[in-house]
Amino acid sequence: MKPYKIIKSNIHRKGLCASRNIKKGEKIIEYIGKKITHKKAEEDSKYGYDITYLFIINKKFVLDGDFKFNIARLANHSCEPNCEAVEESKSRIWITALRNIKKNEELTYDYGFSFNSDYKDYVCKCRSKNCVGFIVREGSRWRIKNQANI
Ligand SMILES: C[S@@+](CC[C@H](N)C(=O)[O-])C[C@H]1O[C@@H](n2cnc3c(N)ncnc32)[C@H](O)[C@@H]1O
Ligand SMILES: [Zn+2]
Repeated sequence: MKPYKIIKSNIHRKGLCASRNIKKGEKIIEYIGKKITHKKAEEDSKYGYDITYLFIINKKFVLDGDFKFNIARLANHSCEPNCEAVEESKSRIWITALRNIKKNEELTYDYGFSFNSDYKDYVCKCRSKNCVGFIVREGSRWRIKNQANI
């Protein structure tokens, strides 16, 4: 039995949830896509829509995951995620459980977006108590909190 199923999400449109209890460290689903450079993603208008299915691998490459068979593309971002995206081998990414996950919990991970000039374009609706209001990687969220205090 697959450990995930597609749901109508409380965060954004569709999402994934646990179809059974999942153990910490379990590999849940592979994020399958086409490897392209950030440069191509920036230059090609195909990648300019509201919803992004680009998975950041590193500073040079992203995975274009906008394919129906890539069910993992439906996992939403959270500021308090229960999953992480792990690079198992070169460009093979698995969504993996960060902790034990109960059946029916939505599966989320940190999209890893940088804090840059357009961070306000990516409003976060994850509803976690730690939510900073924007989709920004954990290591950079203090910058948003600092701005709020100015
Ligand atoms: C890879 S898709 C995730 C699946 C998407 N919910 C769907 O139905 O196609 C990424 C997009 O989902 C939305 N999204 C994901 N996490 C979100 C969050 N925490 N808050 C608001 N929107 C989110 C954003 O529009 C983002 O560009
Ligand atoms: Zn959030």
